[in-house]
Amino acid sequence: MVDVEKLRRVFVEMHGDVEPRLFRAPGRVNLIGEHTDYNDGFVLPMAIEQSTFVLAAPRADRRVSVRSLNFNKTAEFDLDEAEEGKRGVWLDYVEGVARVLEREGARLTGANLMLQSDVPEGAGLSSSAALEISTGLALTSLSGVEIDPITLALAGQKAEHEYVGTKSGIMDQYTSALARKNHALLIDCRTLEAVHVPLDDSGVVIMICNSNVRHALASSEYNTRRAECERGVELLRRFLPNIKALRDVSVRELEAYEESLPEPIRQRCRHVVTENDRTLEAVEALRQKDFQKMGRLMFESHESLRADYEVSCKELDALVEIAGRIEGVLGARMTGGGFGGCTVNLVARDQVARFREIIAREYRQRTKLNADIYVAKASDGAEEIRI
Ligand code: GLA
Repeated sequence: MVDVEKLRRVFVEMHGDVEPRLFRAPGRVNLIGEHTDYNDGFVLPMAIEQSTFVLAAPRADRRVSVRSLNFNKTAEFDLDEAEEGKRGVWLDYVEGVARVLEREGARLTGANLMLQSDVPEGAGLSSSAALEISTGLALTSLSGVEIDPITLALAGQKAEHEYVGTKSGIMDQYTSALARKNHALLIDCRTLEAVHVPLDDSGVVIMICNSNVRHALASSEYNTRRAECERGVELLRRFLPNIKALRDVSVRELEAYEESLPEPIRQRCRHVVTENDRTLEAVEALRQKDFQKMGRLMFESHESLRADYEVSCKELDALVEIAGRIEGVLGARMTGGGFGGCTVNLVARDQVARFREIIAREYRQRTKLNADIYVAKASDGAEEIRI
């Protein structure tokens, strides 16, 4: 938990008796719809309570000075000076979003920012989107710049592409900016329209298990998968000339033409096309409170990510396998980009304690690692908090 009072005390010690404003933006967990966003497809994430908090006050000049309590470091950049480009450190996310916003017409004030986050880093829960959206919201708000949350999300995504080098889709930033408490968010990643889907948690809970494995390959493999999907679209255009993305291909069409695709392109396309279908089915299942079906779709999603998309790893597979044998677990799958990070689980509310105990024990036996296991509550997207 982030201690906002402490954050405020440290801010005042550092910057004197100013009245800072407080902003927060959450991380997210994706329930289903993995690696579909950059294929113009559908995703069904929710924001989690773990968030990045930013205390912020304007400055007279155009410097942005950022203190991170997580890293115990201060770093800064000057909006009036030429950008240095990618540094390979956390400041890239903050500077990236600020530079993109300015380039697109926002005139930002200099600012002192102080950050603290309880979104675990490198766990596939979008700590980077939480950082981009919280600081983007803080800087625009201090500058009196009105920005709609979708534009802010797109600025965060561009920062990711240009400053971090991952050609990510829009899911993480969109969710951090626009999610709603007690709801999942069905995002159409082509039109950027979204529907808030109520989550009835009276009988079931969403649980996150962090494998505590972080694979260095994640970013390069991510960009490779994206390129493979684009190649799939080019090849399928011989039969389906009007398609623009894998979103436009139905399961039946893929079945008709997949023989002509070379591996691994065929497998990659199969994952994306079937995952889009599963995501829309999952929305229906949630609306009908058919949690058995929701859970089954989650297991199928994991299998598809493991076997066809090849973005899982043995630790994530172990977590899903162990979960699958526990009574009262309706569904389990890896969540986020993959190659480590977390699983998301749909668990009967009265089985939470057993779930924790069995996962902790068996995961340790199998991998010699400790998993972090917690209940995830669907939270609101980015906001200013009155203090
Ligand atoms: C990462 C990316 C998202 C999305 C997921 C996979 O989290 O940032 O845009 O592609 O991976 O679903």
